[in-house]
Amino acid sequence: MFEHNSINLDLLRQRAFNLRWATVPEGVIPLTAADPDFPCAPQIAEAINSYVSGRYLCYGPPTGLPLFKNAMAQWFREKRSIPADPDLLFPVDSAASGIYITCRAFLQPGDEAIIFDPVDFLFRYSVEAVGAAAVPFAIPQGEPSVDFDGLEKLITAKTRMLCICNPLNPTGKVFTKAELKQFAAIAHKHDLVILSDEIWSDIVYAPHTYTSIASLDEETHKRTITVTGFSKSYGLAGLRIGTLEAGTKAYFDRLLDASLHTSTIHGANTIGQVAAATALTQCQDWLQQFVAHLTRMRDLCVAGLNDLEGVRCKAPEGCYVAFADITGTGRTSKEIADFFMLEKKVAVVPGLRQWFGDGAEGYIRLSFATSEAILGDALSRLKK
Ligand SMILES: Cc1ncc(COP(=O)(O)O)c(C=O)c1O
Repeated sequence: MFEHNSINLDLLRQRAFNLRWATVPEGVIPLTAADPDFPCAPQIAEAINSYVSGRYLCYGPPTGLPLFKNAMAQWFREKRSIPADPDLLFPVDSAASGIYITCRAFLQPGDEAIIFDPVDFLFRYSVEAVGAAAVPFAIPQGEPSVDFDGLEKLITAKTRMLCICNPLNPTGKVFTKAELKQFAAIAHKHDLVILSDEIWSDIVYAPHTYTSIASLDEETHKRTITVTGFSKSYGLAGLRIGTLEAGTKAYFDRLLDASLHTSTIHGANTIGQVAAATALTQCQDWLQQFVAHLTRMRDLCVAGLNDLEGVRCKAPEGCYVAFADITGTGRTSKEIADFFMLEKKVAVVPGLRQWFGDGAEGYIRLSFATSEAILGDALSRLKK
């Protein structure tokens, strides 16, 4: 399933945008946006075909199709130990949108939200889009412990929200239960809403294990909005489908209100919901094999990067991206990314503020959700 011959490069060159195959010059390998090179599970294609063949593509309910809500609630309960209620979750048109809706619902202009640094740009973008200030909390790659005292020092009278990204894109850190308990304790002490982006939570490498912060206890669930999506685990980015889950009716109502779903101005399309429900109910074996393949690609990628002069890379605990320290090259991350692109024909994401915050300088990020042949080709180009 994850062999090289399952990858259709002709279709990727037509369909994979966002810094990937359809946007790079011929001959360039794009290890850029975290979107797999593999096609989605066949069960998802069959479910979409079967739904569309009915030829009724009507309005869905603003809070989601029952099929989706029930599959999602069951999955949260069984796989994440979150006591989710189908009536307190709804589909959104991507995890990105889920982050933004949560910011709209809980932040006012002038408020502050803590975001990790480095972290995916969506957090800063969403917080600032609603007029609030994003306050970066440094979680450098490879630091053995999280500086919880430092976190508390960042909290002011204006702080409303703590944004958690677990597993953490781009460093690949998977937070332990003990660490999540400390985040929760700080949120309780300062009465903060917790936004927990768990889109990467399926992609965790043994011996690391995943804990959702909302599963810790009832109090924590009540103040947490769990965001997840289907772009990373199932390769459904183009369907723009994700989920928001709340621990209370009051929080759910605020989210739904901020989403504008009831007005039909926004909403999650029904095909995406069918695909997502199928992913959760029929594609767990596919996912397991995907993670097994990714484990091998991670090891190959990390070994290949550590083989390059001036580059050091720690194995990510989760996510399918390698975040490599390039400070030993004496160049900036932008210079290295440009050099790789021009001289090696390998596209990577430079550790710029616009992608991951200030804490990413000195790093580049490479996605390894591809075949062994493509990854091997990219690494040998870099080695030369
Ligand atoms: C942490 C994180 N959240 C959200 C997203 C966006 O997901 P979606 O495609 O569902 O908007 C990404 C994509 O890279 C991500 O890394």
